[in-house]
Amino acid sequence: MKRKLFFTFLFLCTISLSAKEGMWLPFLLEKMNEKEMKDMGMKMSAKDIYDIKNGSLKDAVVIFGGGCTGEVISEQGLVLTNHHCGYGAAAALSSVSHDYLTNGYWARNKEEELPCPGLSVTFIVNIIDVTDKVKEGVTGYMSDSTKNFKITSNIARIEKEMKASSGYDTQIKSFFYDNAFYLFLTEKFTDIRLVGFPPNGVGKFGGDTDNWAWPRHTGDFSLFRIYANKNNKPALYAKENQVYKPKRALTLNIGGVKEKDFTMVYGFPGRTQEYLTSDGVAEVMNTLDPIRIALREKKLNIMDAAMRDNKEIFIKYASKQAGIANYYKKWKGELLGLQINDAIAKKKAQEASFQKWVNEKKITSEQYGHVLADLATCYKTQQHAILWNEYINEAIWSSDLIKKGSILGNMLSAIDTLQSLDSLKKYQTEMIGFYKSIDMATDFSITKQLYKMYDAGMESTPFCSDAQIDAIYYNSYISTIEKFNSLLQVTNREDLKTVIQKDPSYKTYHYFDSVQKANLILVRANLLKLNSQYNIYLRALQEYNKGKQFYPDANSTLRVTYGKVEGAIPQDGMSYAFNTTLDGAIRKNNPMVEEFKIPEKLMDLYNRKDYGRYSIMQNGHKTVPLAFLASNHTTGGNSGSPVLNAKGELIGTNFDRIWEGTMSDILFDPNLCRNISVDIRYTLFIIEKLGDAKWVIDELKIVQ
Ligand code: ARG
Ligand code: GLU
Repeated sequence: MKRKLFFTFLFLCTISLSAKEGMWLPFLLEKMNEKEMKDMGMKMSAKDIYDIKNGSLKDAVVIFGGGCTGEVISEQGLVLTNHHCGYGAAAALSSVSHDYLTNGYWARNKEEELPCPGLSVTFIVNIIDVTDKVKEGVTGYMSDSTKNFKITSNIARIEKEMKASSGYDTQIKSFFYDNAFYLFLTEKFTDIRLVGFPPNGVGKFGGDTDNWAWPRHTGDFSLFRIYANKNNKPALYAKENQVYKPKRALTLNIGGVKEKDFTMVYGFPGRTQEYLTSDGVAEVMNTLDPIRIALREKKLNIMDAAMRDNKEIFIKYASKQAGIANYYKKWKGELLGLQINDAIAKKKAQEASFQKWVNEKKITSEQYGHVLADLATCYKTQQHAILWNEYINEAIWSSDLIKKGSILGNMLSAIDTLQSLDSLKKYQTEMIGFYKSIDMATDFSITKQLYKMYDAGMESTPFCSDAQIDAIYYNSYISTIEKFNSLLQVTNREDLKTVIQKDPSYKTYHYFDSVQKANLILVRANLLKLNSQYNIYLRALQEYNKGKQFYPDANSTLRVTYGKVEGAIPQDGMSYAFNTTLDGAIRKNNPMVEEFKIPEKLMDLYNRKDYGRYSIMQNGHKTVPLAFLASNHTTGGNSGSPVLNAKGELIGTNFDRIWEGTMSDILFDPNLCRNISVDIRYTLFIIEKLGDAKWVIDELKIVQ
């Protein structure tokens, strides 16, 4: 009887374990995951998700801007993504009198949609395995650098050939540390217009306090539209461009999500390092994360204070601050998660049993006997260089003025090649943009403080004195637009060169740029070695774990991750329900604290329970479902990704992970790792009732 109970228990454990580690390549789903996905409740086939010949869900999933995901949700090129993914674009369109961050923006018709210069939306047309072609001519006897040279030149050649023959943009990416290479054919649209943007009180509700945390009440979404030329092809912005007609638009399902429902997230995860050795994890925990956290904390203190007191500075720095604060907090969570979960010890134990397996047979010990030791040596060798590089990135380059010294460098190298010095005037536009995005006094304080921290951290190679920094901010030709314009008045080439060479921000920029490059050259050989050892290690791991499915680390390519809608037990004695509602947001309302101010109109809708068809009954109250948790393995870049149900219908938009699981980029724990999504019903409620944009709702295909 006991035995029987025990086996039933084991059985229950296996079937209830629904979190599934992995970010899978969509064109390999049929072979690798389809069966498991169906067992978990999926009601479509791998072909519905990815199919080159017939159009599939893939055609509705896009790269949004530089590092987010978006989904096409109407036949008229409407794209849904996160609020924080559209934040930079909305900030750039804002001014003190038109503050779209604080007040939101809702176009009332297509004419009112606002063009967003610099923004793009990219579709994946096809993915092709080019591993053999990329490895052509590479032999086991080559040195790491010869091998690397061969691979890089093969990649450049194939990309060029494929671009010419297909007419699409091409990019080849490396997988499993150069064990596989896939080519991506893409189509990039650049006439993108803002359609709807909730106010911060909805889209950024909870701010940095609630970021990376549960329970969450952020309506983190925004709406854009893709425009194309009359042949439905990418075109530069033009008033007469037409709405893009997509190959596929998602169907939205407002029938609701239940615990244990199958879900999948389709998007472009940016970077993970799941196969790091214990020394690699130690590098993150002992060097990288602590430096980043300490330096960003200082930077944020200065920025936050300046933004609080001054609306103009707030608009200038809002987007920059959000990016810095986001990863600051992420690394804190990651470090804590790695510590609590004993990541180094876990990796060491795995490595010990791997090494035991390697040593058992002559053949494996000959092939893989050294790989772990060689990796350990690589990490030791690069210790100082890695530390230095991170200090330069996080401290030195946080000075926007010194970083902008690069423009003087560009002018300097252009001087001799120009017909007339007059053409240097083209740099004026860039500088005008620069002055719009910087507050000199804030930048000055940041530089002073962070360069001090740099000196303290890099005792061996200190930089500065306060006087040097003062000189940069008082004397540099790029410290004000007037001074910059006076530079453009210089008519003699040699004079201009001398002036630039003596400019203190140029000199400082040039110094650190060279130092960083020299440092990187030093480690480059080591990095190549590291990479080539990981190449061997990954092959060895797959042999060691025969039968196990392996997924490649995220590298900003299209992936599918799947799991279930489910809450979590993040700590002993604590439990996270799977969803939140508008009522919870209202309870957090605090008019005294910027991050928790509910907009008046939302309060009014709440008081009248004016929820349209998006309401549910929860705990005896009529409310609107707001966010939900699921066990999908996501990372940065998955922001804005469509969260789909068993039939491939849109039930939410991914935007975050829970605090206790932020270490999942390095160590995935099925019990702790959860992604957070905005419920599609909250999105639609906000569009229709808060934004009064029923005209947008009418474009959508909504099912129940
Ligand atoms: N943590 C989410 C992500 O990684 C949301 C970030 C929103 N930004 C913020 N600073 N609150 O992108
Ligand atoms: N908010 C993240 C992003 O910008 C997604 C959350 C995560 O890192 O999982 O992509």
